[in-house]
Amino acid sequence: MSYKCAIFDLDGVLVDTAKYHYLAWKELAGKLGFEFTIEHNEMLKGVSRMTSLDILLEVGNMKDAFSEEEKVKMATEKNNQYVEYISNIDESEILEGALSLLQELKQKGIKIALGSASKNAQIILKNVGLESYFDVIVDGNSVSKAKPDPEVFTLGAKTLGVPYEECVVFEDSQAGLEAAKIVGMLAVGVGQKKDLTNADVVYSTLKDFNIEKYF
Ligand code: G6P
Ligand code: MG
Repeated sequence: MSYKCAIFDLDGVLVDTAKYHYLAWKELAGKLGFEFTIEHNEMLKGVSRMTSLDILLEVGNMKDAFSEEEKVKMATEKNNQYVEYISNIDESEILEGALSLLQELKQKGIKIALGSASKNAQIILKNVGLESYFDVIVDGNSVSKAKPDPEVFTLGAKTLGVPYEECVVFEDSQAGLEAAKIVGMLAVGVGQKKDLTNADVVYSTLKDFNIEKYF
């Protein structure tokens, strides 16, 4: 199969920002008085900001302890901390193999889309210098439904005029892989096999991805 379009998740696939999300959530949990582990954090990958907060509060047995208003305040606090972390990042945060894969795809004339749940995607792409590789950027500001809803991927494919089954999605989250599979896109997991059971195929980094096999 020769695929025509590559759709990339951002955090944890192209850039090493998943660790900053984790740090910021962990700090919030600390303030609330409970521990939030790296294993708990797996559940937040690919998930929207407010849903992430709900999952975190459930971990701390505080599911119904706060009003909507208080929750918005907490999510804003987490985001301010996160934005502080990412405001000074540069190309050193680009993950292994990401840049060369984007370059090779471009050379081959493959369409490239971003499919990220993050509302901070634009600033991250700009800071690490990857903006120009994308034919379309779909992020948390352009969609209303969060992964595992496939909207963040289907909007990109539609904009580029590529049928879903000719798209490859690169993801580090179970929610994102599930979203890709729902609409028949090839779901490539980036990370550890044990965490990414929804994937069609898993590579530990983008460096290991065999471009000739798929594009
Ligand atoms: C990505 C990350 C999630 C994050 C979500 C929203 O999908 O994997 O951990 O919660 O984006 O990000 P934001 O920057 O808008 O809070
Ligand atoms: Mg991710």
